[in-house]
Amino acid sequence: MKITSSEIRKKYLEFFKTKNHAILESAPLIPENDPSVLFNTAGMQPLVPYLLGQKHPMWKKLADVQKCVRTWDIDEVWDNSHLTFFEMLGNWSLGDYFKKESIEWSYELLTSKDWLAIDSTWLAVTVFEWDESTPRDDFSAWVWESLWIPKSRISYMWADDNWWAAWPTWPCWPDTEIFYWVWEWEPKADSNVKNDEKNWMEIWNNVFMEYNRLPDWKLVNLPAQNVDTGMWLERITATLNWVKSVYETDIFADVLTKIKEIVGTPNYNERWARIIADHLRAATHMIADWAIPKNVDQGYVLRRLIRRAIREFFKMNYEKPVISEIAKMYITKFEDVYISVKTNKSKIIDELNKEEEKFGKTIKNWIKEFEKKFKIGIKWWPDWNYEDIEYRKKLKGFLENSEKNKKTSFFSWKDMFHLFDTYWFPLEMTLELLEEKSNELNIEYNKNSIIEEFEEEFKKHQELSKAWAEQKFKWWLADTGEITTAYHTVTHIMLEWLSRILGEHVSQAGSNITAERIRFDFTHWDRMTDEQIAKLEKFVNEMIVAPCTIVFKETSKDEAKNSWVRWVFWERYPDIVKVYTITDPSWKIVSQELCWGPHIESTEWIGKFKILKEESSSAWVRRIKAILEK
Ligand code: ALA
Repeated sequence: MKITSSEIRKKYLEFFKTKNHAILESAPLIPENDPSVLFNTAGMQPLVPYLLGQKHPMWKKLADVQKCVRTWDIDEVWDNSHLTFFEMLGNWSLGDYFKKESIEWSYELLTSKDWLAIDSTWLAVTVFEWDESTPRDDFSAWVWESLWIPKSRISYMWADDNWWAAWPTWPCWPDTEIFYWVWEWEPKADSNVKNDEKNWMEIWNNVFMEYNRLPDWKLVNLPAQNVDTGMWLERITATLNWVKSVYETDIFADVLTKIKEIVGTPNYNERWARIIADHLRAATHMIADWAIPKNVDQGYVLRRLIRRAIREFFKMNYEKPVISEIAKMYITKFEDVYISVKTNKSKIIDELNKEEEKFGKTIKNWIKEFEKKFKIGIKWWPDWNYEDIEYRKKLKGFLENSEKNKKTSFFSWKDMFHLFDTYWFPLEMTLELLEEKSNELNIEYNKNSIIEEFEEEFKKHQELSKAWAEQKFKWWLADTGEITTAYHTVTHIMLEWLSRILGEHVSQAGSNITAERIRFDFTHWDRMTDEQIAKLEKFVNEMIVAPCTIVFKETSKDEAKNSWVRWVFWERYPDIVKVYTITDPSWKIVSQELCWGPHIESTEWIGKFKILKEESSSAWVRRIKAILEK
């Protein structure tokens, strides 16, 4: 069957429309309101609040094609199936259908003659084996069997394979995965993912979401059972066109041909060209979604991808401006799919050109710098000129003739760190260049020890950044207005935990906050034990670190009275009141209080909560003095 990626995108959404799913636009690559990750790595990511129980405005069955970026497989990008940017076809049930419908619909879409018409004997599936927290998923296996997937094609897999989580805490759950046979011959009757893994390629993952993992590692049930599925458009396109690699599909094939034309067949290297094709596709979308090349965050990832692509061109002996030519091909492919690409056409070209120009200069400086380091390593070699071929030959001869020199440690982690730190030259490029030069000159070097030492240095560097972040804390605290606001927010969290630790009778009896400390009075008849104080400190700090978010809502006093909120001195409040809600990252409410404010918006960076003193204030009233320290 020949089918284009655009047709598959359309078919996928059409299919789920017939199953009453609302179709969502892809969210931008850069997550909104979620600083914990740089890019959306899965279709479910923009939907996390709804998977955790918030109502989605488009209701309970959703489908979309979500742009995603994953950089953790970047070293495998040249193989047949890994990419940094990919499009994830996804469908969701938010407390609606569950395992049975999800599996049946996946099967129908993949195998039905009206849809993708895959031969089901070329499919295999995996389901979840068990672990301490979750039983074996016999139900999913049973649904597969009822669809005529033979037992021999169903593998039970452990949590390493069939437990899906976007990150360590937050929603997680077992899944069932669908694989397609990618070897030339037909699969044998008993072949499955467990006994023949390399011949099966994963195409679709159906995740049955039942749990939320809390920061203390406990699993709790989510408010509803949800379904989260993800199929890589690039892989299913390869599958349906009977090619082994995503690079042989309409998504990439013409781009690779173009690269070959540009660099000329003798210089062409498939692996390097694939890296270019992948990285520039990712870069195109990142810029369309408002990333620009920088030295931090998303911009740094983008910069690395662009520079790597340029460098691959260099390796194929092509040093003229070129990358926006490739990006233009992607713009044509995507402008009718994602509005961001259409709107930002000229920005994409502009940013790529600018970065290429900048890098052109940097790379020359960088190579010079590299040469310098290299030369210092080989101290005895005067007037080094690496550009000069004759020199290189001489040097090579010299090195080859000298056993001792072969062992010269000519490049160290310090050099590497310097290049990284000064020029933001991606580490892997330094290593590559090192590899190339040492091969060319036949010099041995100990790559692993360089990397290890570099990493050690890098950690030190990170600690410096951490120290810097703590500085940020201090600078921030220098503003007394902000300190007292942070102290005020902490009293809300503290009161909540006081009442959870000591009992419901605890309520606020007074509070006095200065830029130096919190003084907080509350009703309780006994001195707090050391253990209770330690608990209070621990819990408040956990909430600070989480970090918690603070929002307020204005409402009538009467309405507030009917809901579960804390208040002090009821009569003093006006008719319209503010309810301040503090939530942890899983949107669980930590505290809800009537208050005039102001409060900080997030507890991030406010420092460590420390109780200095717990003492009697008056009869039945205790007093806590506490601070936020660095
Ligand atoms: N969230 C699941 C995945 O990314 C579907 O594989």
